Amino acid sequence: MNHDSPSPRHVPVLLRRADEILGPALENGGVLVDATLGLGGHAEHFLRTYPAIRLIGLDRDTEALRLAGTRLEPYADRITLVHTRYDGLPDALRHAGLATEDSVRAVLMDLGVSSMQLDEAERGFAYSVDAPLDMRMDPTAGLTAADVLNTYSHGDLARILKTYGEERFAGRIASAVLRRRAQRPFTSSAELVELLYEAIPAATRRTGGHPAKRTFQALRIEVNRELESLQAAVPAAMSALQVGGRIVVMSYQSLEDKTVKQIFTQASASRTPLDLPVELPGMGPEFAILTRGAEKASDTEIEENPRAAPVRMRAAERIQAAG
Ligand SMILES: C[S@@+](CC[C@H](N)C(=O)[O-])C[C@H]1O[C@@H](n2cnc3c(N)ncnc32)[C@H](O)[C@@H]1O
Repeated sequence: MNHDSPSPRHVPVLLRRADEILGPALENGGVLVDATLGLGGHAEHFLRTYPAIRLIGLDRDTEALRLAGTRLEPYADRITLVHTRYDGLPDALRHAGLATEDSVRAVLMDLGVSSMQLDEAERGFAYSVDAPLDMRMDPTAGLTAADVLNTYSHGDLARILKTYGEERFAGRIASAVLRRRAQRPFTSSAELVELLYEAIPAATRRTGGHPAKRTFQALRIEVNRELESLQAAVPAAMSALQVGGRIVVMSYQSLEDKTVKQIFTQASASRTPLDLPVELPGMGPEFAILTRGAEKASDTEIEENPRAAPVRMRAAERIQAAG
């Protein structure tokens, strides 16, 4: 499918809430990093609402960057778009002439797959349509989902299915994959879906959602190294924030949200040694958490935009310079 403009159905998730949180940090201008530019929906809102800001937009998907570039054309003199994984954020800042610390007012990370990636059947993200098993968000680099299925050992396959897909039948599915590929290598998503229907017991199929959902998620995370990238990117983004600067991260599956929660919890803990009765000056926490638990989309938003259903949003503010 060829897209020349973002689909009219594409609605940025939790836009109003993201604005409530990031807005106060951007009122007087400064740099906003959108680390997951996608189709530029959030970015366009912030550029329009805060005329003094400059945007650094990152995405690993060249097609997303191209479309966002067209959409953000009216703001061309205030934006720098960079093709990179979000853990390349420090390099992207340097490339834009900025320091990697104390240079940014706000960071937005809207993780996961864009509506365009899901709509483009040929990229193999969706289990509902037959397509080549690719799943790379950056189609120019790395292993495809078919490569993973055709080359990984039983142990590695079972591990990624269990860890990234929280799949109860990981071992059983891995065995079925090895048996199947000994006859013919995997090439298409329909072959995998068919195998999953056979490998997952019928009783579980009735209660556990679509049998392919967890395996497709696991493959996508593995192919795109999503958690490793996130584990490096969130701390790098937080280091770049000035005092008063804010970060919002929206996750779409529990492992991402757990990772973000852990990083935020650590960053908002006191740095005074535990055995001291009072906080040492300058040794208080560097960050304050701005969200209570993980915030979800409202029922009304989910009704209008079903892609908002799984979102979990967390936000934090830098309250003290790095010690
Ligand atoms: C949900 S979309 C973002 C949508 C965007 N907020 C909007 O309003 O249009 C997520 C985007 O993040 C990108 N992405 C996912 N993982 C990434 C990574 N590790 N590094 C950079 N971009 C990534 C995807 O290619 C996708 O375009």
